[in-house]
Amino acid sequence: MLHGQHGQATQKAMEILTALGTIYGAERMLPVISVQIAGVSYANLGEAGLEFLAEMADGGGKARVLTTLNPAGMDVENWQALGVSQEFAVNQQRVLNAFARMNVITTCSCTPYLVGNTPHFGEHIAWAESSAVCYANSVLGARTNREGGPSALAAALTGRTPAYGYHLDENRQPTVTVVVEGCPVETNDFGALGKAIGEKLTKEGKKRVPYLTGIEQASLEQLKSFCASIATYGGAALFHMAGITPEASRMIPPDETIVITQADLDVATQAMTDATSDEVDFVSLGCPHLSIKEIARLAELLAGKKVTKEFWITTARPVKQMADMMGYTQIIEASGAKFAADTCCVVAPIQGRFKALATDSAKACYYAYAKNKFKTVIKSFDEVVAEALK
Ligand code: F3S
Repeated sequence: MLHGQHGQATQKAMEILTALGTIYGAERMLPVISVQIAGVSYANLGEAGLEFLAEMADGGGKARVLTTLNPAGMDVENWQALGVSQEFAVNQQRVLNAFARMNVITTCSCTPYLVGNTPHFGEHIAWAESSAVCYANSVLGARTNREGGPSALAAALTGRTPAYGYHLDENRQPTVTVVVEGCPVETNDFGALGKAIGEKLTKEGKKRVPYLTGIEQASLEQLKSFCASIATYGGAALFHMAGITPEASRMIPPDETIVITQADLDVATQAMTDATSDEVDFVSLGCPHLSIKEIARLAELLAGKKVTKEFWITTARPVKQMADMMGYTQIIEASGAKFAADTCCVVAPIQGRFKALATDSAKACYYAYAKNKFKTVIKSFDEVVAEALK
């Protein structure tokens, strides 16, 4: 590949990977079985990014393994209803077309594990979205570093990644024990937990792999919320949770311990709430993208009611198609809430459109402020829906 025998794009891709491997001291390449590429929104890529993609597609680049995309800047079918400009839509479609030419599956989601891009225990993969990387490493027990856009594409076109970081056993060992004494119940509580732990870990300025004890149960939805939050606030790409994640039983909890109390969770929740209920003019659920179980609950809560605020439901298109099939979409849309498949409230170009966001997601709170300067309110899933109906 490096010598150009598999075409120009593959050669360029292998050059990227060997450079990366050299920087990190990798001794060899590993085959990957799955790739997930981030940096898909035209708002982030711009013309320079699009040019790179076009060059790789023109150079004959084709994905050698199952590859999907992170959310784009718009719902590919419903962009007009979400207030996206025609100019942006045209450019976003150019991005998706470039990926499609490379045989990348243009399903745009940060929960690829809910739509068939689902690696299993011990498999090497190359994923880019931080919440999905944390979920794949921790909950599925697959192995990935957090890839950048170009390195993920390079892994797709070669089916390889350099052997370093979380691909190696020694880097998957826990380095600090976290005793959770607080009692997270809802998805927003798991987000608060991720923020509380993440901030404690980053204070020390090193990358840590936490080993959590004290959580008795955690659903897929709670874990995806936790992963998004601990990745956002703590840069964590891997954790172990005793009794819940698959590698935990093989690990020895480190002596160094931090304790997270209910007071820590309350402080984290408070810190993500700087808007009053009256200020909320935007409501969004689906960071990370909603599961079909969450959409079913939403349909139950919205049946026969009308929302009073702009309300986005963000999910992967195949999950939305399940919702269509089950009649949930019809119930939800009849309430005035809008599906925003393929995208989310962070990557869509909505700066300046709203004042305050209500959500159940700690990650959405972080970026709503950091990227769009919105105020935020974090509440449980059901309370967020109630907020939209007020
Ligand atoms: Fe997914 Fe967007 Fe949140 S990519 S994790 S919904 S910020």
